[in-house]
Amino acid sequence: MANLPIVQFEDKILDTVEKHPVVVIIGQTGSGKSTQLSQMLHRKGYSKSGIIAVTQPRRVAAVSVSRRVAQEMDVPLGEEVGYAIRFEDRTSEKTTIKYLTDGVLLRESLSNPELNQYSVIILDEAHERSLNTDILMGLMKRLIKLRSSNLKVLITSATLDGEKVSRFFSNCPVLNVPGKLFPVNILYTPEKPLSYLESALETAMAIHVKEAKGDVLIFMTGQDDIEKLVKKLEERVQSLEEGSCMDAIILPLHGSLPPQMQVRVFNPPPENCRRFIVATNIAETSLTVDGVVFVIDSGYVKQRQYNPSSGMYSLDIVQISKVQADQRAGRAGRTGPGKCHRLYPSRYYNEEFIDATIPEIQRSSLAGTVLYLKSLDLPDIDILKFDFLDPPSSDSLEDALKQLYLIDAIEDDGTITSIGRTMAELPLEPSLSRTLLEANNYGCLSQALSVAAMLSAETSLFPGKSKKRKDRDQDHDHHDPVLPNGSGFGDHIQLLQIYDLWDEHDFDVKWCKDNNLQVRGMLFVKDVRKQLSQIMQKMERKERRGRKERDFDLYTKLRKALCVGYANQLAERMIRHNGYKTMGFKSQLVQVHPSSVLEADEEGMFPNYVVYHELIATTRPFLRNVCAVEMEWVRPILSKLEKVDVKKLSGGSHQPAAEEAKESLLPGKDEAIIIAKPAAADDDPQSRIQAAKDRFLARKGKK
Ligand code: CDP
Ligand code: MG
Repeated sequence: MANLPIVQFEDKILDTVEKHPVVVIIGQTGSGKSTQLSQMLHRKGYSKSGIIAVTQPRRVAAVSVSRRVAQEMDVPLGEEVGYAIRFEDRTSEKTTIKYLTDGVLLRESLSNPELNQYSVIILDEAHERSLNTDILMGLMKRLIKLRSSNLKVLITSATLDGEKVSRFFSNCPVLNVPGKLFPVNILYTPEKPLSYLESALETAMAIHVKEAKGDVLIFMTGQDDIEKLVKKLEERVQSLEEGSCMDAIILPLHGSLPPQMQVRVFNPPPENCRRFIVATNIAETSLTVDGVVFVIDSGYVKQRQYNPSSGMYSLDIVQISKVQADQRAGRAGRTGPGKCHRLYPSRYYNEEFIDATIPEIQRSSLAGTVLYLKSLDLPDIDILKFDFLDPPSSDSLEDALKQLYLIDAIEDDGTITSIGRTMAELPLEPSLSRTLLEANNYGCLSQALSVAAMLSAETSLFPGKSKKRKDRDQDHDHHDPVLPNGSGFGDHIQLLQIYDLWDEHDFDVKWCKDNNLQVRGMLFVKDVRKQLSQIMQKMERKERRGRKERDFDLYTKLRKALCVGYANQLAERMIRHNGYKTMGFKSQLVQVHPSSVLEADEEGMFPNYVVYHELIATTRPFLRNVCAVEMEWVRPILSKLEKVDVKKLSGGSHQPAAEEAKESLLPGKDEAIIIAKPAAADDDPQSRIQAAKDRFLARKGKK
């Protein structure tokens, strides 16, 4: 370990931390930030007065880094060194170094706003700019004032603009840890290839045949293209004449791999063998694989993007940023001089790539975040004024407010309701937590828990289901299992039926295999359901499990509960198109995703109304996971839509002056414009922008 760059700066780092409450540490990927800082602070004795927390935006990183640290300290994982990710806590009384996802730390702060159990909080991988880390930065800024004497905050990053973060934290010190990076020769393709997958394949084979030893790291966009490339590479490597070149191992690396598969990349390769690691952007900065000499960069990344005006998520394959391209190239120069093959011409890098990736907060649905901020109950919290490193658009904040109002989490004046408070305690998105609460009233909590758990699976439960039905039918050797079909009500009911059936088979793993369900995913669901049920237990009515003949009633109750949770996610069938039109604030023409079990009746008609779990644009907009509902259940919800007034929701104009001192939970009218793009600027847009900017600067100046 001693040769990791960061360890050589141990004294300097400890000294700076001793003197300052917040320190920013910038060091190249692989310099030892994630694995060494916590151990240094532990050696220095910081763990005597509390736990040392290290946040990670990615679950995989929390698990793998804590495993590594436990190994280095020669302790069993889960004792002195542990990790906590959503639905999985591997810590104990003994834990002094705790790796946790940023989301878990946010949740902990709900029950313990001062986070008193921690003596040090390290916000690691801050350059990833995950939504949760961004919010944590805002919270740390407050917390530091409250606990200045006994809390240390470290912000670490591989690429982050240290100055900007330092300004955010009242000019805290920034330590740059110089890492040694060998020169990397960057090679571009003359043109953009027609298929980056094919191009990656050819480049990888050329390296394998021609180049001296050294592992190859290939950046793809997601599980799908990783699996394809791994398969093709395997075929090609096998077709090589025996003895013509060294052996090869091909390893996938992405977030939904089982843990034992993920750690394989950290095992040293056998002698005279080249490793090909086919990875997502996870290998850019959060996981460092040693031994890489060659990098192949597709130039793309898969990114989730939320559009607040349509309420639609899109999962797009987009061009990476310059920062990402540089990070990828840097992976080749850790152990010696390396080569990076960029599968795009240099003019793309220079002219088309944006400088840095857009922070997640500016491309996410913020309903969960706004609810969280409201439930913190900080006396002076004002959502639009919340101190973000980069503020989200007011469109997305308004979208979040409307959704929260519709599902009864906030009052029409913007204050949080008791329902909202309970919702915030559940580790689920607002729509699902609202459904659980409603289901509890209707006496179908048990069923709703199963559905919520099934929808929370981190991996795909039905490996075959993502295929179009037609393709599945053509798949001859794949015997289609007979799974329940949702009784005509759609995917939520199907998920429930599958879970119940598994329960009837005593949660037999073989049953899952026989039915082509992903075993690990299903076991995870079972565990999630148990945890959710424990949280809900206080409220759960004692009821007998629904017997067979009551199923239909239960489905009805459950569908009613779903209507309430998904109040903002209703769609009405269009007679002409037999497609749907989403209702509420945003009107979209959409189709039910082909993977859905919702079937048209004999006349080819779908149900008149559905609620949906997700509206996502792939090749076109689709409703993912839909459930048939009745108009009479929908009507009262729709009437709420008519009444909603976002201005009031945002608490501005009608706030009595006397309340000002208390600081409203929501911004005034003026503030709403500040962050907004001036959509309503019908007179002179330019002067409005200027006016908004001025107000913004004036307000900043006042702080
Ligand atoms: O966080 P940063 O990128 O600065 O580096 P790190 O994750 O602390 O990694 C430091 C070293 O530990 C690298 O050489 C990694 O390859 C190694 N490491 C490992 O072998 N296994 C892990 N699970 C994590 C890190
Ligand atoms: Mg790291």
